[in-house]
Amino acid sequence: MDGHARGYYLTGTDTGIGKTVASVALLHAFARNGLRATGMKPVASGCAMTSEGWRNDDALALQAASKPAHFYGLHNPFALPEPTAPQIAAASAGISVSMPPIALAYEQMAPSADAMVVEGVGGWLAPLANELEQSTLVSALNLSVIVVVGLRLGCLSHARLTERAILADGLPISGWIGNAVEADFPKASEYKALLRSSLVSPCLGWLPWNAHPFDPELAARLVLPVALV
Ligand SMILES: Nc1ncnc2c1ncn2[C@@H]1O[C@H](COP(=O)(O)OP(=O)(O)OP(=O)(O)O)[C@@H](O)[C@H]1O
Ligand SMILES: [Mg+2]
Repeated sequence: MDGHARGYYLTGTDTGIGKTVASVALLHAFARNGLRATGMKPVASGCAMTSEGWRNDDALALQAASKPAHFYGLHNPFALPEPTAPQIAAASAGISVSMPPIALAYEQMAPSADAMVVEGVGGWLAPLANELEQSTLVSALNLSVIVVVGLRLGCLSHARLTERAILADGLPISGWIGNAVEADFPKASEYKALLRSSLVSPCLGWLPWNAHPFDPELAARLVLPVALV
């Protein structure tokens, strides 16, 4: 690659639909292809206090799957204790979430990676802060978006709305990843076919339901996004 990481931003059809699972699988997929890939969760709400400070499970999973990995604060510049919307969690912690610390952390990690995988919060229109939309972060860091579609009732509308909103924001989409977030979802193959035909961006693969969703073998289900020119 050309010395500066390609950056991808994983958003999803909702909270709890597999953004972290897909981000970890994508990090493993880059590694399988001999590429250095580092993950990041710029704003994380829901943290546990440890002897080393506040830690968030998503950010820890991304750090663990990163090659190279860095110190925790770079992977997660804003660790908000309460497990709720970032604006509410930041207010109760007295923290002001803003772009500069996120950009600084990203720029410290990007030079030693071929690909950066940045996990968003909730769904696409969940703000990161009162004055900070996820689209602003994507644009500022020059990222390309990947939409994670959690296979559950309502996903057709959520997936199409998400894709339309990202394109309306004038941002590039590298593709979407389907994720079987429910063990037994009726009519799964029909839903998969409908998603493929109704989304305009390419499908990068389907992650099956797995009792160990961070299993590195899941990476084999993904194709890498085509690098942006
Ligand atoms: N393919 C899968 N197989 C089994 N369980 C899964 C799968 N994908 C997700 N899960 C489970 O669903 C839950 C939510 O997944 P995940 O944490 O990746 O969602 P998320 O979109 O990142 O959520 P958040 O908005 O909180 O960041 C987790 O408990 C995870 O273990
Ligand atoms: Mg997550």
